[in-house]
Amino acid sequence: MRTYRLAKPGSGDLVELETADRPAPGRTQLLVRTRAAALNRRDLFITSGRYPLPARPGVVPLSDGAGEVVAVGADVARFAVGDRVTASYWPRWISGPLRPEVVDQLGCTVDGWLAEYVLLEETAAVAVPEHLTWAEAAALPCAGLTAWNALTRPGTLVPGATVLTLGTGDVSLFAVQLAKQMGCRVIATTSSAAKAERLRALGADDVVDYLAHPEWSGEVRRLTGGAGADLVVETRGPATFGQSLRAAATYAQICLLWVVSEPPEVLTVTESDLRGSLATIRREFVGNRTELEALCRAVAVSELRPVVDRTFGFDDAVRAYGSYRDQDSFGKVVIEF
Ligand SMILES: NC(=O)c1ccc[n+]([C@@H]2O[C@H](COP(=O)([O-])OP(=O)(O)OC[C@H]3O[C@@H](n4cnc5c(N)ncnc54)[C@H](OP(=O)(O)O)[C@@H]3O)[C@@H](O)[C@H]2O)c1
Repeated sequence: MRTYRLAKPGSGDLVELETADRPAPGRTQLLVRTRAAALNRRDLFITSGRYPLPARPGVVPLSDGAGEVVAVGADVARFAVGDRVTASYWPRWISGPLRPEVVDQLGCTVDGWLAEYVLLEETAAVAVPEHLTWAEAAALPCAGLTAWNALTRPGTLVPGATVLTLGTGDVSLFAVQLAKQMGCRVIATTSSAAKAERLRALGADDVVDYLAHPEWSGEVRRLTGGAGADLVVETRGPATFGQSLRAAATYAQICLLWVVSEPPEVLTVTESDLRGSLATIRREFVGNRTELEALCRAVAVSELRPVVDRTFGFDDAVRAYGSYRDQDSFGKVVIEF
């Protein structure tokens, strides 16, 4: 089978294609024929050496993918040949809180999806909703689950609450779609009229152009009659945090999601920003397998369709990385097999 691996540091390449033997599943494993794999910002941080978790040299990249089970080990009980599956970003984190002993990430410390066949422990696998294409199914594990956990922690939202999303990155688009399905009002920010239209089509009730309104937090307050947003899905970083706080309702939650922020890297909060706020600030790091199953149930029931911007063939994986890095997108960049 053909597989990509993380390129050797200094080689000038992002990923390198190799031929390898097709693996056989161990007793508790699934052999999956990959049908699609999706890129996330973290995959660029990994190739550029900026990701906080050091990648294993030569690891098969990409945390997100979906495929068809083609063989199962003797002790596999939850899946059968022919099933359509994806897998948890953290393959050993099944439920409960993240603990040091389950810290492994697909496409970083252990092999991910950018190979024609992948071996998965059955405990890491999750059935994908039937209505999804392979590309849509591959979109769920990282950005989809991160948005899900930002929105669904107990005590976060009730129908009618206002959710603020920043820009049109993958997490934000999922947050817009999921928040609408939860009966919330969504205010989204973006930088162009064309993207504003697409955000409205996805379900955003109001869109604020953050270039036309550099003090966009004031617009969010105006749109909410001065009350502010009940949840801010903070995907940008220190550069936007002050305004996120100013756009937030008194008892809001602000879910800080960035892992590697663009400069400035120091988070500064002014006393005046804090004075009127009793907000709770929390973090998420994607989520566990049980939460991915919950997301898949919600996606199946609501027939949500993840947004896919563009697809590349397996042979064009290097081009897909370059395109994702260098070009603007609205939705996932996916490699189809
Ligand atoms: N904690 C976790 O579990 C987790 C999981 C996934 C991702 N992340 C992190 O979350 C962040 C977002 O990732 P992503 O893949 O969803 O999106 P992304 O690709 O990093 O976002 C790109 C978008 O950001 C928007 N943007 C740029 N500057 C902005 C500004 N000043 N205000 C508002 N929006 C701005 C732009 O939207 P417009 O073009 O619409 O202007 C752009 O299209 C990254 O740091 C990523 O590493 C964390």
